[in-house]
Parts: sequence; structure tokens; C-alpha cells
Amino acid sequence: MAESTYRPGLEGVVAADTAISTIEGGLLYRGYPVENLADHASFEEVAWLLLEGERPSARELAEFRELIQESMQAVGDDVLGPLREIGRSCHPMDLVRSGVSLLSASEPEAEDVTPEADLRKAKRLIGQVARIVGAVGCWHTACQDAPPTPGQSLAASLLEMITGEPPDPMAERAMDISLILYAEHELNASTFAARVVASTLSDLHSAVVAAIATLKGPLHGGANERVMDVLEEVGHEQRAESWIREQLAAKRRIMGFGHRVYRDGDPRAVYLKPWCAKLAEDLGLEELERRADIIEQVVATEKRLPPNLDWPSARLYHYLDLPVPSYTPLFVASRVVGWSAHVIEQHGNNRLIRPTATYSGAPRRSWGE
Ligand code: CMC
Repeated sequence: MAESTYRPGLEGVVAADTAISTIEGGLLYRGYPVENLADHASFEEVAWLLLEGERPSARELAEFRELIQESMQAVGDDVLGPLREIGRSCHPMDLVRSGVSLLSASEPEAEDVTPEADLRKAKRLIGQVARIVGAVGCWHTACQDAPPTPGQSLAASLLEMITGEPPDPMAERAMDISLILYAEHELNASTFAARVVASTLSDLHSAVVAAIATLKGPLHGGANERVMDVLEEVGHEQRAESWIREQLAAKRRIMGFGHRVYRDGDPRAVYLKPWCAKLAEDLGLEELERRADIIEQVVATEKRLPPNLDWPSARLYHYLDLPVPSYTPLFVASRVVGWSAHVIEQHGNNRLIRPTATYSGAPRRSWGE
């Protein structure tokens, strides 16, 4: 018998069965705690794990890295040209979303929705999306748009494309970790959107386009760029306490805090915070960490809301010298893996996702006689 109670925001509603990740007992990707992966794996290994279900052999990993590199290099002017034309006049997430639509035009298996074809397309999409994100990010810096130096990790490639400089090992590792933490998160809003699209037997690119559109919103992925607005508006640690108290008194939503499924704290935010502290110290930017700490403490005491992943991520990207408009696109460069894994799973055991609604409109009436 179907559940007939309306739950706003579908809170607590189970809408999929998945083997990809869980938030029960910490965040696990295919059974591995995300902290364990961030300590020991690379983003490419995690991407393979999420898509294939098991960790790659050395040979599989080498081939996968090569494929990602080739896919990055192969994105041409058929895709980047139109995006460059509309460039600064629209939101970077609109560019990334349009970029994925354009990619589907030259995808030879675009209409094949078998899990096998989805997997091949997903692997290509990782490099292709990274190239688009790199280009979109670099249009907000003074650097020249160019493909990355071949042979690097995806993390290093993204940093090089956006800043114009090959990163040092610490910056590369910090970016790699952020990509690992962003890669997958059970049935979040954008993943749900991707699964709804896939459930109609529409294709992978269409599902990813819908997911990007969903991620853009400030209650989801768009929060990471808004976090930087918060920190900039505060301006200095000395103003942090009065600023945050004013915001809370005015009942404003503080970007980077709260989470639908983590009431006691987001383990990804806990993991990333020491990385922010480390980078801030190296750059002599500890004041920003103290500013963030004061805000955290007041929000915890007054609202009992812990920070989510977007709170430290924004500072991490700032320390990596990345422009704010690239923050949410970088989320896409990582989460495209999680979305694709869910589309593959949905297509592998599909049933149309079609919930019902309760009705609160006008009672039955007649138009004519
Ligand atoms: N600042 C101030 N108050 C908040 C916040 C916040 N960040 N988050 C929740 N609340 C309050 C909200 O005002 C409401 O209070 P009241 O009951 O008095 O009206 C109560 O908490 C419940 O809010 P809700 O929106 O019903 O709770 P939710 O579980 O639907 O919210 C959320 C989850 C993430 C949308 C929300 O916490 C939020 O808006 N956070 C800020 C945006 C953000 O950081 N998003 C990133 C989410 S995690 C990473 C990702 O997915 O991208």
C-alpha cells in the first residue's frame, strides 16, 4: 500500500535503493569511509570505485587516467566556442550546463541507455567536464584558456587550467581531497534529479544537465560561492561576532551551515577544516580561519547548526587562488562521477519515478452548464 502522507521536501522518504554510497554509520562510498579514501586514494581511484564498484588494478587505473587526459584534450571549439561567445554574460553554472548539452551532440553513444554504454560515456565525461570547468574558471582570471599539460592528475589539471600555473604538490593534494569529498552523496537533490531523468529512459547527458541545473541553487551546490560572500561581508574577525548575531536576529539563512541529513555535523566538513588551517598558515591568512571559527561557534551555540562541506570548501578554494565563480563548477567536475554512477544504477534496474501529490486546489466545479 502506498504511503499517502505528504512530507514537505520529501524529508525522510526513501526513494531509491542504492549500492553506491550511504550516510549510515558515516559517509561510505562502496563501503569505504570517505575519510579513509581521502587519506589514501586519489580522485581518479575514487571515481573508478564509484563507477565500477571495486577499486581499480594498477593497469586499469593507468588506462583510466589516460582516458581522462585524452577526453580533456579532445574538447574542441564546437563546445568551447559557443560558451566563449556567451561567456561573461551568464552564470558559470549555466555555461557548464550548456557545455554538457553541447558535448552530447558529438557523443557517438548519446542515445544508448544501457548501463554498459553509460559507463563508457561517464568515463569520457569526467575529462570533458573538467575541461569545460577549467575553461569557465579561467575566463574569470587573467590567464589564457588552454588545455592542461598532459600527464597530470585531474586535480592538477583543473588548477592549472584555472590559474594558469601548474600547482605545487600541497595545492594539488588539497584539490584532490576536495574532489573526493564532493564526488558522491547518496540521494541529494541533484542526484535525485539525475535519477528521475534517467528513470524515463532518457540519456546520461540529459540526466547530468538536469543535475547541474539542480546543483546550481544556493541551498545545494551554489552555497559554496555564497559562503565566500559571507566571509567577505564580515570583513574581519573583529566584526564576525556582531555580524553573525545580527544575521541570526534578522532570521537570515547562513550559507554553509545546516544539512538535511546531518544534524550532528557533516563529516566532510570536519575532515576538510584542518586542510584549510594548513593552507591558511602557509599563506599567512590565519585571520580568515579565525573569522570562520567565530561564526561557527556562534551558529553552533545559537542555532545548533554545524557547518556543511561548502563552509570549508570555499576557504580552501580561496587559498588555492581560485576565482569564486569557479567554486560551484568545481563541485560539478567532481559530482559528475556520483551522478553518473546513479544513472548507471537506475538504468540497470529501472522503474519510472513518478510520485503522487495530495490536492489542495478548488473543489470539483463545472466550466459550462
Ligand atoms: N542558517 C540559518 N538557519 C537555518 C539554516 C542556516 N544555514 N539552515 C537551516 N536553518 C533553520 C531554518 O531557518 C529553519 O528554522 P525555523 O524552523 O525556525 O523556520 C530550520 O533551520 C529548518 O530549516 P529547513 O530549511 O527546513 O531545513 P532543511 O533540512 O530543509 O535544510 C538546508 C537543509 C541545507 C537547505 C539548510 O540547512 C540551508 O539552507 N543551509 C544553507 C545553504 C547551504 O549551506 N547549503 C549547502 C548544503 S550541503 C552541501 C550541498 O549539498 O551542496
